[in-house]
Amino acid sequence: MTVEVPLSGGDVVTEGVVRVGDTVRRPLGPHSPAVHGLLRHLEAAGFDGAPRLLGTDEHGREVLSWVRGETPARPLPAYAVTEEALAGVAGLLRGYHEAVRAYEPPADAPWDTVASALDGAPEIIGHCDVTPENVVFRAGAPVALIDFDLARPTTRLYDVVTALRHWGPIADPCDRDGRLYGADVGRRLRVFCDAYGLAGDDRRRLLVAARVRFERSYEAMRLRAENVGGGWARLWQGGAGPRIRRAQDWLERNWDDLDARLT
Ligand SMILES: Nc1ncnc2c1ncn2[C@@H]1O[C@H](COP(=O)(O)OP(=O)(O)OP(=O)(O)O)[C@@H](O)[C@H]1O
Ligand SMILES: [Mg+2]
Repeated sequence: MTVEVPLSGGDVVTEGVVRVGDTVRRPLGPHSPAVHGLLRHLEAAGFDGAPRLLGTDEHGREVLSWVRGETPARPLPAYAVTEEALAGVAGLLRGYHEAVRAYEPPADAPWDTVASALDGAPEIIGHCDVTPENVVFRAGAPVALIDFDLARPTTRLYDVVTALRHWGPIADPCDRDGRLYGADVGRRLRVFCDAYGLAGDDRRRLLVAARVRFERSYEAMRLRAENVGGGWARLWQGGAGPRIRRAQDWLERNWDDLDARLT
């Protein structure tokens, strides 16, 4: 008998994600062929920080390998907020960026090219959604990125900024996970950028990129809530908009301190 165990991570934007034995089954979308090419490339490149694509099943779902370990749920467990974990996530993202560099996506891949163009001249196919729920840990150390649904052409800096929105976190203290309420975010940004090996130019542009990104995410989420509905609408009704506004205010208030810590 096949047992399907429902999985949900974070915002549960993707409905119908289940575990079957050592596999994960996820619904296909327009982006799936491009993401599958990406996962095959990572496998060929020997990058083991991502699930393997095993095919599609009789219900038309993608079949991925189950990555052994745990993904931090909210409230975040202690192991997910250490500086070692933070540096580990940065190293994982860097490893992914190195492995994906040589990937030539199909020319007709239905990425969100409008958003990509706004990020600047694309350098890589970024993961673009490195939240705690999308990182698998084993014995307290991050070992894999999962959930490549939002992958698209972007810059390294943009992918780093998106990760830091969650892992800094670049957020008002009142919206942070309990264990990160009083976190020294300036220090955490520095730890992440050091472990990633972020170039000096990119460090100097990081806060500006965060500022631009917040404004764009606000608009993008509002539009998705209206036009796509489902999980996006639930996110928006749950106060995603005001959370972004508070994060923007916090960033502006702490700009000089953060900038000094980064450069
Ligand atoms: N390949 C995998 N290996 C191990 N765990 C997985 C894997 N895929 C998914 N999971 C678990 O299932 C949860 C949900 O999966 P996934 O992130 O793919 O979908 P989702 O979070 O519902 O989508 P979204 O991030 O778009 O809201 C993850 O947070 C993780 O705990
Ligand atoms: Mg997820």
